Amino acid sequence: MTLRGDIGAAVIGSGFIGTVHIEALRRIGVNVLGLLDADPELTAARAGQLGLARAYASLDELLSDDQVHVVHVTSPNNLHYGQARQILAARRHIVCEKPLAMTSAESGELVRLAEASGLVNAVNFNIRFYPLNQHVANFVRDGGVGDVRLVTGRYHQDWLLYDTDWNWRLEPEHGGALRAVADIGSHWLDLTTFLTGLRVESLMADLATFVPVRQKPVGAVETFSTERSAQTTPVAIKTEDAALLMLRFEGGARGAVSVSQVSAGRKNNIQYEIDGSSAAVAWDSEHPDHLWIGHRGRPNEILQRDPGLMTALGRAAARLPGGHVEGFADTFAAHFSAIYDDVIAGHPAAKPAYATFADGHLEMLFGDAVAESARTNRWVDVGRVSPPAATGKSTS
Ligand SMILES: NC(=O)c1ccc[n+]([C@@H]2O[C@H](COP(=O)([O-])OP(=O)(O)OC[C@H]3O[C@@H](n4cnc5c(N)ncnc54)[C@H](O)[C@@H]3O)[C@@H](O)[C@H]2O)c1
Repeated sequence: MTLRGDIGAAVIGSGFIGTVHIEALRRIGVNVLGLLDADPELTAARAGQLGLARAYASLDELLSDDQVHVVHVTSPNNLHYGQARQILAARRHIVCEKPLAMTSAESGELVRLAEASGLVNAVNFNIRFYPLNQHVANFVRDGGVGDVRLVTGRYHQDWLLYDTDWNWRLEPEHGGALRAVADIGSHWLDLTTFLTGLRVESLMADLATFVPVRQKPVGAVETFSTERSAQTTPVAIKTEDAALLMLRFEGGARGAVSVSQVSAGRKNNIQYEIDGSSAAVAWDSEHPDHLWIGHRGRPNEILQRDPGLMTALGRAAARLPGGHVEGFADTFAAHFSAIYDDVIAGHPAAKPAYATFADGHLEMLFGDAVAESARTNRWVDVGRVSPPAATGKSTS
């Protein structure tokens, strides 16, 4: 029987999130062999800091290492498609950061390649794996709130509030044509689709760029950095700081979400409320161990995360006993545990609990609809997830 320690993983990128991947992989007992970063000097330095034995000089070199079974892609968005193609062609299981690609034509092609390969393919929509969100998925799908009617919420951050805040995500050639929607709105939509089992059929989008010119530092800036550079150059911003989206789900449920990277004081705040015909649930990522359950005819409840009080999915995702607060980094351990069960099996489960490339593609189709709705000022249908033919054309 294969054990997690027999599985070799390599990670591409060691910025904010690459480091979280490495820590979580080690925590669940996977053998993290090495790293590839932007250039050999940086790779060697970061591999040294992180205690990784192998500093790969290129993706070719990484993929020629036959002890690497799984590759985690945590590089900037514009690199995901090319790296994922190469990884699948070399027949390695893959965990890719979101967004899966820069366009739905690219993500559709990746779905086709991944499905043809039979390899495990995952997109890191980790927020599904807060234990209470796993619990809610069971609860809502088993009728705990009755028929789902309203799905509302927000995903707000403040790290791009000032015109001196800078990151590669602000440049469409690195981040993509949509910013706040692709970067964090996609998490909210993946989460609520997972929780309700309902897909968004159509939407109406209003996008806003409140900071039209930003001061780009001379030199690189780390994600979520608050350091200010002395030398800057003004750059016109073409992507949205915020978005307001109205949603129609299949089956008749309605939704609304606001997405913002310029909301002072909201560091990384994702919230949802699901209102059904008999009850409601609400959750806030800044208080992730508490779930509000709303009732009409009796007092409301707060469920504090406790493996003994949750459904099977919630219990499986919990790493710690109740009262020992779990957070962002813990979701990676729970998420990767589910993915690596399939890696050990050698293929994806029939219905993986984690987001696959097909789910990553759905988020790209959602983005297409958001962009078109904002441009044309009307409701737009969201394209279905069917991988395009070999021409690589978008299905939206
Ligand atoms: N799931 C989540 O919660 C979550 C959170 C943050 C970021 N992300 C995603 O992770 C990705 C990285 O984001 P980040 O915030 O860590 O960015 P970051 O800028 O902190 O890190 C990016 C890393 O990629 C490296 N890199 C750049 N070019 C490279 C190349 N050619 N080859 C190999 N490595 C290269 C950089 O040197 C850096 O180490 C993005 O796609 C982002 O959307 C996901």
